[in-house]
Amino acid sequence: MSNDSSSELEVAGAHEIEHALRRSDTDPRAAQRAERQVAIMFVGSVLASILFVVAFVSVKSTAVVDLPLIGRIGLQNLTLGVASGLGLFLIGAGAIHWARKLMSDEEIVDERKSFASDDETREAVVESFHTGVEESGVMKRPLIRRTLLAAMALMPIPAIVMLRDLGPLPETKARETLWRKGSRIVTDISYRPIKPEDIPLGGLVAGALPADLKKVEEEEGNLNQRAKAAIILVRMAPDEIRSQQIQDGDFQGILAFSKICTHLGCPIALYEQRTKHLLCPCHQSTFDLADDGNVIFGPSARRLPQLAIEVDKEGYLVAKEGFQEPVGPSFWERG
Ligand code: FES
Repeated sequence: MSNDSSSELEVAGAHEIEHALRRSDTDPRAAQRAERQVAIMFVGSVLASILFVVAFVSVKSTAVVDLPLIGRIGLQNLTLGVASGLGLFLIGAGAIHWARKLMSDEEIVDERKSFASDDETREAVVESFHTGVEESGVMKRPLIRRTLLAAMALMPIPAIVMLRDLGPLPETKARETLWRKGSRIVTDISYRPIKPEDIPLGGLVAGALPADLKKVEEEEGNLNQRAKAAIILVRMAPDEIRSQQIQDGDFQGILAFSKICTHLGCPIALYEQRTKHLLCPCHQSTFDLADDGNVIFGPSARRLPQLAIEVDKEGYLVAKEGFQEPVGPSFWERG
């Protein structure tokens, strides 16, 4: 610890830079106007936080709006983003305006000094802090103080309200997909029904869906069912299939598996026809489709669920039944 007098706050060499007075320093009415402007910004932040909560509760998560340049966007996401951004912006803008117009703006130059501080210096720092508080006017200006406290108190509320999106747990919803006995298998995008002869030996259909998905998506207005129901189809010679999760689950060597990786849910379609391995691009989990869809490499802890298939009277591929295992990631307990 140094007792060097240069470590004191008031050091030889420290000097004030010439100070230009602001209008708010000399005109009490200008100071009051600035005070009101700051308070209006803090109140605006309070209103933005309230708007966030109202939008979260009252705007449907499925509502969409078309905006120029941006295009189609969820109305709730838009409102929540604007409200939380505005709330933060107004607190920052109010604080800057307060500092520029009302806080002390006298600058001093303090020459570099020893890092160690003696007791006198610490006392001086504490005194300086109190002086800063005094000069900021926070104690003298209860309007600013209270509106700032209100704005700061309400800022965490949007984050707390959003915790609601963490629950409830999906329970059985994660286990159920649209696949039922007789669900016709159609191609993604074009919704064209698939016949066995559409898939050559060694071939892959990288994305297939249940035929009634389109109607359900139009009714529900979201893609939740698609995310669970997507499957891939591969065709191999029947004697290349070493084992299946469901007895006779294939149709003439055509096998259907969930397209959703059982690790963290990436869609998978990297199929190596020679080895019958399916590789997930996200973390390289590899599934052997000729052997139960078992995991042979990577972080996934669960095999890829198989969908048993057959053909209907018109010769189109259909599901024999729904999935017998939950599809998708295994990050919650599936029992
Ligand atoms: S999501 Fe497929 S390996 Fe991680």
